[in-house]
Amino acid sequence: MKILALESSCDETAAAVVEDGRLVRSSVIASQVEEHKLYGGVVPEIASRRHSEAIVPVTQKALDDAGMTLDEIDAIAVTYAPGLIGALLVGVNFAKGLSLSAKKPLIPVHHLRSHIAANYITAPELEPPFLCLVVSGGHTHIVEVNGYTDLRVIGCTRDDAAGEAFDKAARAMGMPYPGGVEMDRIAENGDPMAFRLPHPKVDGAPYDFSFSGLKTAVINLIHNAKQKGEELPVPDLAASFRKAVVDCLVQNFVKAAEAFGSKKLVIAGGVSANSLLRRRLDEECRKHGWKLYMPALNLCGDNAAMVGAQGYYEFLAGNTAGLDLNACAEMPI
Ligand code: KG4
Ligand code: ZN
Repeated sequence: MKILALESSCDETAAAVVEDGRLVRSSVIASQVEEHKLYGGVVPEIASRRHSEAIVPVTQKALDDAGMTLDEIDAIAVTYAPGLIGALLVGVNFAKGLSLSAKKPLIPVHHLRSHIAANYITAPELEPPFLCLVVSGGHTHIVEVNGYTDLRVIGCTRDDAAGEAFDKAARAMGMPYPGGVEMDRIAENGDPMAFRLPHPKVDGAPYDFSFSGLKTAVINLIHNAKQKGEELPVPDLAASFRKAVVDCLVQNFVKAAEAFGSKKLVIAGGVSANSLLRRRLDEECRKHGWKLYMPALNLCGDNAAMVGAQGYYEFLAGNTAGLDLNACAEMPI
């Protein structure tokens, strides 16, 4: 089954052709990041306008790269939630137009489910059940994936998402948006023990996270140093902050795996590209004898191939939509 998949939930306009959920025939991503960098974060209205401009040529390129016409496609999958509402609406409405004109089924795909599905492309042998740490710019969840369309959140962040904390702390350290990647790079040359930062826990909720106190602690450190006319060593600060975030993520994920008896651990979302997180989870999984799955680096961030992967399993489960499909900014997984 060949699915044409579309993604426009944030600041990447993406289209892909994916066969049977696992085989990527083409994947095209038009990133707006250079424009949003000027403002230090994503400007929602600019994002919507750029999606409107890019969605047709990006889709055409995805079909051309796959060597296919729309006639040869079996269904259209699209990210419908969660995300920036104006951005999502561009993809959803374009997908509805394609579905109507080409008379193909329309498959709505949840953005976080698609991040998880990026792993089905990287590891064709991976099948549920497994335990997944979903870490993106907007979400931090530990999810029990019992089936391709049967997912249960067992822990989540009470405030900032891990990616959001990385981006905001990086901005305070003078790094450009999105700071997570840059902080990861700079942290490689820093001393992670240079600054003692808080490792917040949520009382009575061992699988939940809280990153806003940690973010504020590092922002205050920088602010206080500036007031005294001091310069803090950015690589050490970045390494200490990255270690604190990764410590919290790994600790709760390992605790959850032990409690739920999971032997298959998976990570997903933009922050799953973080090199320390990947190294630390690799060590933990070796120690415990668990199997670890991580998306290929080019599938960690937003893309449409992962939408095509999840879309296939949504279709098999009968989860198609009518032409009254709407976008939603918030939606449980
Ligand atoms: O999943 P994603 O592409 O978009 C959302 O669905 O939110 O995640 C983007 C987030 C950004 O916050 C970005 O800074 C972060 O992922 N990110 C990283 C790294 N690469 C991307 N954070 C830490 N280390 C990285 N290497
Ligand atoms: Zn995402």
